[in-house]
Amino acid sequence: MTKLGKLYGIGVGPGDTELLTLKAVSILNSVDVIFSPRSAPRRESIARKIIEPVLNGKAEVVELVFPMTREKDRLEQHWSQAADEVASALRNGKNSAFVTLGDPFFYSTYIYLYRKLRERYPEIDIITSPGISSAFASASAAGIPIAIGDEKVVVIPLPGDVRGIQRYVEMFDTVIILKVGERLKELVEILASSGLAGNAILVQKVSQQGSEKIIFGLSGLTRDELNKVGYLSTVIVKRKLEI
Ligand SMILES: C[S@@+](CC[C@H](N)C(=O)[O-])C[C@H]1O[C@@H](n2cnc3c(N)ncnc32)[C@H](O)[C@@H]1O
Repeated sequence: MTKLGKLYGIGVGPGDTELLTLKAVSILNSVDVIFSPRSAPRRESIARKIIEPVLNGKAEVVELVFPMTREKDRLEQHWSQAADEVASALRNGKNSAFVTLGDPFFYSTYIYLYRKLRERYPEIDIITSPGISSAFASASAAGIPIAIGDEKVVVIPLPGDVRGIQRYVEMFDTVIILKVGERLKELVEILASSGLAGNAILVQKVSQQGSEKIIFGLSGLTRDELNKVGYLSTVIVKRKLEI
């Protein structure tokens, strides 16, 4: 009987290949198959682009589509299909890796795949290898310490009702807001009403060569800057902005 392969969930960091861990590189160059997610058939896989420069060519790279949709049934179907595809490679004895942006257990698609595999194939051995999260990379790129001493920090995806952000900026010294995208304008309005728009930093595509953009203070953004914010954007709000 073929020995079941192992699955490695690998965090590949936010964009710069040099932010891959040594462990990630050594696993990626030892497995037989690397599964890489992308959000649409014609969109490039950012995780694949990050790892490509360090690959030794041993592994077959297979891209899996995880659409950006809130339709639960559609997502379930894609996660189940992906779990079956990964399980099939493992059953053929192929050690495999699944690469994911930032850290794998931090708001990542990998978690859905991980759960599906646990549920459907409990016999599979899954090892998760951490990566540098965009939240930490954003703070470093901006030169903004996240926390010192007894300061309190929260990380949240921008709430459906943006006004929900208000209580976090009142309670925490640092608020890291993910999934800002098209709703930056609403967020800036809410921050301005608390007098904190000037203390907010927008980090876009951190560590992605030629694309990274950091804006300090969000009070005077142009219409273009407010409207052209992509998915890979993080806002850091500091109650007291001091370096
Ligand atoms: C689904 S979460 C994935 C987080 C990822 N697992 C991590 O640890 O960075 C996606 C959100 O993370 C943030 N993000 C991911 N990559 C980023 C990047 N390169 N620059 C800025 N923000 C990023 C954005 O807020 C984005 O909406």
